[in-house]
Amino acid sequence: SGADIGLIGLGTMGSALALNIAESGFDIAVYNRSDDVTHAFVEEAGDLAERVTPAFSLEDLVGKLRSPRAIILMVPAGDIVDDQIERLRPLMNPEDMVIDAGNANFRDTIRRAKAAAAKGESFLGIGVSGGEEGARHGPSIMGGGTPEAWDRVEHILKAIAADHQGTACATYMGPDGAGHFVKAVHNGIEYADMQMIAEIYGVLRDGSGLSYAEIAAHFERWNNGPLQSYLVEISAKVAAAIDDRSGQPLLSVIEDTAGQKGTGRWTAIEAQHLAAPVNVIEAAVSARNISAQKDERAAGEQRFGAAPQHVDIDAETLEHALVAGKILCYAQGFEMLRKASAEFGWSLPLPEIARVWREGCIIRSAMLDDMAIALEDAPETPLHRAPPFADRLESALPALRKAVVAALGNGHPAPALSAALTYFDAIRTSRGTADMIQGQRDFFGWHGFARLDDEGRDHHGPWVTSN
Ligand code: 6PG
Repeated sequence: SGADIGLIGLGTMGSALALNIAESGFDIAVYNRSDDVTHAFVEEAGDLAERVTPAFSLEDLVGKLRSPRAIILMVPAGDIVDDQIERLRPLMNPEDMVIDAGNANFRDTIRRAKAAAAKGESFLGIGVSGGEEGARHGPSIMGGGTPEAWDRVEHILKAIAADHQGTACATYMGPDGAGHFVKAVHNGIEYADMQMIAEIYGVLRDGSGLSYAEIAAHFERWNNGPLQSYLVEISAKVAAAIDDRSGQPLLSVIEDTAGQKGTGRWTAIEAQHLAAPVNVIEAAVSARNISAQKDERAAGEQRFGAAPQHVDIDAETLEHALVAGKILCYAQGFEMLRKASAEFGWSLPLPEIARVWREGCIIRSAMLDDMAIALEDAPETPLHRAPPFADRLESALPALRKAVVAALGNGHPAPALSAALTYFDAIRTSRGTADMIQGQRDFFGWHGFARLDDEGRDHHGPWVTSN
């Protein structure tokens, strides 16, 4: 006897997940380092409290769980996770399992999984997306660890996950850090999706001079078309919201500096390690960094003046521009996953990743349905060349070009959309310009280059070197 599963960390996400687990019919024992939080949680659990067992020490928690035990950690990523694992270790049996459900860096997850394996312990690292609402009513869950560990708790994770047409959005991604890596790429794409929407918003607001209500109406309409997605849906709501205090549109009182906890940045960093081109995500991370330099931007405006921002462009063009940007950004994300899969020996299931993102998570969108099919039908083909996305891209590309040219030509920063356009132009150019890079490298460092008319490396230019 005892609870089916334990959970440590009753913050916003932990509480929501614990209630979801209880509501899904499992008995859960919960522990928080502050007893007050635990008492308050049980009180607020209402009818679900009968499935919740509070624990007031780690020993107490472990004692209240059915063997073999499984304990979810929902604590801030970083040292606290290691600390909790260390404290649990002497209390647990080898067949017991720790599940890190926080936003861990996948490299930490690999390290923890290896340490657990060396001691014969079970460890899972699961990426959980969907914010508080998702955690409470159905997140998207990306699992990493041994298949045996996953199999033991899969029924619980599937029961609490979001549902898409009868299939739970909880999927085993592969060994050790695979789940947290997929979550990181999710977050990188999340940053890029958000940034591209923000850029279009900027053109509508400052270029076309639309009111917030008019912008909201466009987003709302787009949410019924190919751009149907949670982020476009909430962008409409954000643009339509009125501030309680001032009675003004909410956006007009929100400071234009974006926060970030770091997972989007990790994606950009890992992409560099993998030599995976994800310039749309990188642009989105950079844009957040620039947004945070408010004083510098103000000083720049004072020195150079603000750009005249009037833009002549219709909303339909902007909608299609966003479609093209989105396809290119996701193509980059999936190619990054493919590279990581080879690098880390994971066999990441790309179509299943598109499916697990279909509901519950922040980047959920209708387009992911078609992406899952495309990745299944043409498993070796990058998304942008896979039918039907190649066709869609071809028809939406002129709009992307028009939007980027209009934005850039009139002083609107559009880093993510222009990165997408640049990426497209680069990947459809068989004769690029890196011949110059190779010539330069050979000139200053005798690095050698390959010739078009002669296979093999290590040709050199006619320059005399000191080597
Ligand atoms: C999710 C989100 C979430 C993320 C926050 C904040 O999938 O539910 O990605 O995990 O932590 O949205 O991220 P930033 O603070 O980095 O914007």
